[in-house]
Amino acid sequence: MKKILITGAAGYIGSCLFFYLKNNFKVSVIDKKKNLNFSIINCDLLNLNRLNKILKKEKPEFIVHFAAQSLVDETINKRKYYQNNIVATNNLIKSMKKNKINNIIFSSTAALYKYKNKIISEKSEIKPISTYAKTKFECEKLIKKSKINSVILRFFNVCSSLKSKNKIVGELHNPETHLIPTLVYKNMKKKLVYIYGDNYKTRDGTCIRDYIHINDICSAVRKSINYLSKNKNKFEIINIGSSTKITNLEIIKNVEKLTKIKTKFKLVKRRKGDVAKLSCSINKARNKLNWNPTFSKIPRIIKDEISWIRHLDKLNIKRKFRNYL
Ligand SMILES: NC(=O)c1ccc[n+]([C@@H]2O[C@H](COP(=O)([O-])OP(=O)(O)OC[C@H]3O[C@@H](n4cnc5c(N)ncnc54)[C@H](O)[C@@H]3O)[C@@H](O)[C@H]2O)c1
Repeated sequence: MKKILITGAAGYIGSCLFFYLKNNFKVSVIDKKKNLNFSIINCDLLNLNRLNKILKKEKPEFIVHFAAQSLVDETINKRKYYQNNIVATNNLIKSMKKNKINNIIFSSTAALYKYKNKIISEKSEIKPISTYAKTKFECEKLIKKSKINSVILRFFNVCSSLKSKNKIVGELHNPETHLIPTLVYKNMKKKLVYIYGDNYKTRDGTCIRDYIHINDICSAVRKSINYLSKNKNKFEIINIGSSTKITNLEIIKNVEKLTKIKTKFKLVKRRKGDVAKLSCSINKARNKLNWNPTFSKIPRIIKDEISWIRHLDKLNIKRKFRNYL
């Protein structure tokens, strides 16, 4: 069995990936936080000595690097992004070199592209605006410079939950800022949601985005492991989205169809920085990784998000949302 180590494994994507991979790989998981579902090796990537000891002991062949200051919020101290993204990635590279580990898959973001209302390919112009996106771009550059065999996955809007046997794992950010969990939750709980902008040049005036089911994210990582196993000295940047184009109002209609509950929503003025249309070209992922998103149809995404919300309700886990949508 191949040995994999996931950083940031207490987080949303890392914990789902652990369940996705654990039957076919020997998976070690590290994070500075705990997780409710499984035990994690406690390690802050800022502590290089501890990281060196863990990598020496675990000796993974592949590292999936998901640890990050991932919330996009300009009120968060910039230092947190610098430390948990740039310094942490730099430490990881140093430790990988020291321990002769030569394969990395890194979770980057679509937020570093310059948005121009068109389909975004890996060749599209880069212009990170948020501190989050800027630091992610710096991490990509560090990995490139390291010459470690690498796949950089630029994720679009990751969402929904993963079911494996009798387990369900999903998104539990605090606060939750992402659109799908917010819309589904607020519909189910009959709470008011705001939609920012109804006069964009789209079918119904609301923004169009590209959503990708967590199951398809996990399969993209698995395909990236295969790719790195067969190739050496690579630095491949690959977009991971679904290339579906759906408006905010269409999502609301899809949610209502499944829950049979009317959404209370209010159309308010546009937010600064939002563009009308964002969607992803996945040709490179198809060609290089032989990957296809098979779970990312909107009804499936919403159905699995509903199951996750019901599961959290059963556990009586309260959630906090930012007034995003
Ligand atoms: N969720 C999305 O839609 C999305 C989109 C694009 C990119 N990404 C990227 O994918 C990755 C995973 O996203 P997520 O939604 O699971 O994020 P998340 O915030 O749920 O998880 C990140 C984890 O990293 C850990 N972490 C942060 N700093 C650390 C440090 N110094 N040492 C050890 N652990 C540390 C946190 O404790 C957390 O558990 C992130 O790198 C994020 O930037 C996510």
